[in-house]
Amino acid sequence: MEGEAELRRADLASEPLEQFRSWFAEARAVLEVPEAMALATAAPGGAPSARMVLLKGFDERGLVFFSHYTSRKGRELDANPQAALLFHWSPLGRQVRVEGEVERLAEEESDTYFATRPRDAQLGALASRQSDPLGSRSELYERMAELEAGVGGGSLSRPPTWGGYLVVPVAWEFWQHRDARLHDRFRYERERPGGWRIERLFP
Ligand SMILES: Cc1cc2nc3c(=O)[nH]c(=O)nc-3n(C[C@H](O)[C@H](O)[C@H](O)COP(=O)(O)O)c2cc1C
Repeated sequence: MEGEAELRRADLASEPLEQFRSWFAEARAVLEVPEAMALATAAPGGAPSARMVLLKGFDERGLVFFSHYTSRKGRELDANPQAALLFHWSPLGRQVRVEGEVERLAEEESDTYFATRPRDAQLGALASRQSDPLGSRSELYERMAELEAGVGGGSLSRPPTWGGYLVVPVAWEFWQHRDARLHDRFRYERERPGGWRIERLFP
């Protein structure tokens, strides 16, 4: 990139999804895993928790990731279906924040995605009780072996405790690193009925 990158109001797409689409394409060109994102959820009392997950798709409905519905994040989302997502694309000096409401993906969509996963990943999803205490690693291997013996070479179906989540954005923020900490920041907020309000924020 020549000179200092900047993000100008005039260059922003009117739809945040379009802005994300173009930044994501640029991130894909320079990063191995641009889809890695931090996912923040909160317990009913308000205590936040965060972990990395992988963005598996995005469209006008929202952003999709997959996980265990019975995990800590799953339990927190059951009680409080709101989340924040965060991407940091260091080589581009960019950060994207997304805040939104969370719903489960339709079962058929989760089935379809599960069917595309490598068999090891499918077995892992079936064997793991994500976020529960695990006595030893061998316990996990035993669960995998038992499962494999149980199904033989047969195909595996998605366990009902594992599937997709859709984050439906209510706000997005696009942050571009600039010299001397004078970064560019633009926040999109969803306005009824359906448009977006865009404002520049102090960095
Ligand atoms: C780069 C990266 C990508 C990850 N992707 C996922 C993912 O897509 N889904 C998932 O359930 N866990 C993923 N994990 C593991 C989570 O960070 C986390 O350890 C796990 O989901 C349990 O979180 P919880 O106990 O808060 O529910 C990923 C970890 C890393 C470092």
